[in-house]
Amino acid sequence: MDVLIVGSGGREHALAIGLSESSSVDKIHCCPGNFGTSQIGLNHDIDIKDVNSIVNLSNNLQIDLVVVGPEAPLVSGLSDKLTEQGIPCFGPNKDCAQLEGSKLFAKKLMNKLNIPTGRFIEISNLERIDENLSFFKPPWVIKRDVLAGGKGVTVTGNIEDARDAIKNAIELDGLVLLEEYLEGEEASILVLMDESGYSILPPSQDHKRVGDEDSGPNTGGMGAYSPAPIVTPSVATRVTEEIISPMHHYLRNLDSPFRGCLFVGIMIDRDGSPKVVEFNVRFGDPEAQVTIPLIKTDLGMVLYSVATGNIENIDIIFDRKSIATVVLASENYPNKPIVGRKIFGYDSHIDEGQIRGLIHFSGTNIDANGNAISSGGRVLSATGIAPSIIEAIETAYQIINTIKLEGSHYRTDIGKRAFYK
Ligand code: AMP
Ligand code: GLY
Repeated sequence: MDVLIVGSGGREHALAIGLSESSSVDKIHCCPGNFGTSQIGLNHDIDIKDVNSIVNLSNNLQIDLVVVGPEAPLVSGLSDKLTEQGIPCFGPNKDCAQLEGSKLFAKKLMNKLNIPTGRFIEISNLERIDENLSFFKPPWVIKRDVLAGGKGVTVTGNIEDARDAIKNAIELDGLVLLEEYLEGEEASILVLMDESGYSILPPSQDHKRVGDEDSGPNTGGMGAYSPAPIVTPSVATRVTEEIISPMHHYLRNLDSPFRGCLFVGIMIDRDGSPKVVEFNVRFGDPEAQVTIPLIKTDLGMVLYSVATGNIENIDIIFDRKSIATVVLASENYPNKPIVGRKIFGYDSHIDEGQIRGLIHFSGTNIDANGNAISSGGRVLSATGIAPSIIEAIETAYQIINTIKLEGSHYRTDIGKRAFYK
């Protein structure tokens, strides 16, 4: 197969590496891709929002499978348009993508299906803000009902800030969600799903805050590891029975069923009860970097099976190894990152028996001499794959310590929560 990957993050580089190791895959194309994907396949300078150009490119290249990384093109209907042209697409149609595109849609569906999640109210009236806030204990969780790249959520114990967040959202969008604050520990459960069945990837944990010990502002994700022991076998069983199974039953019976990766963000409380924080309709970034390499089965065949509604006919086998990935971010990220800087030492990798260390590139471009330069907030992530989580973490840090990028920063505590809370 010739495959086109849509996106430009570490997630897409992880997909490109996995596909390049698949015997079912011949050529790999990316749009727009990054430095890492340019080392594996051919990058095409097309914006992910330009859905029509992506469809044209797929037709011109006679692509056999399109794999969509980010949510925006899915919400815009890329999958629907590819399906109309008879091109298999890994990534759900526009209607299913509403699970991520509209938090209100997702919440209403969870209530309808009795899926455990925090209580919420929808507010569209500027007059009754204080009355609405009084229905919940602080801290208050306020969510805009738009695709905001993780930036549409305010969690605050300060009533003035809560009022402002509600007011701003109503003025911008006409409505806002006020949610019950969920205590506990978060985990990410990625599920490959189509109408014929589903396969749950090993659980992972992201690190959303920019600084060590979960300090500073939220980011797209500063590192991840898998498997996450907080998802014990009993938590995993509850997630399957209470969340994934009813979601699959609903999604498989739609006229156009879900085909792609359902990302279930959960909060696990002290008693081990999982509640849904959010649904996404794609692989996570950096969760992809710590789960995709664990898929032992030919990745091209796995993704093609899902794209054509045939997952039940493929045996998906997972490696029992552990993976950790540590994100290297540009100076000033997550505010206004400083980009365009040269990266040094990025050719380091480790391949020692059972232990592998590699770089997943994200916000990077190629300069006139073919070298990698930074072009985004998250520049790359250093990934360690090993028999134990401790070795995986050590390997990831060994790799990141060889890389030099002026002003860059990374967290030094990725994966610590695997050992203690
Ligand atoms: P979301 O975009 O819905 O995933 O929210 C972004 C982040 O805000 C989550 O990963 C959580 O860390 C936090 N968050 C969202 N909703 C809640 C909630 N109901 N209770 C506690 N934290 C939340
Ligand atoms: N790492 C969180 C996400 O991809 O949404």
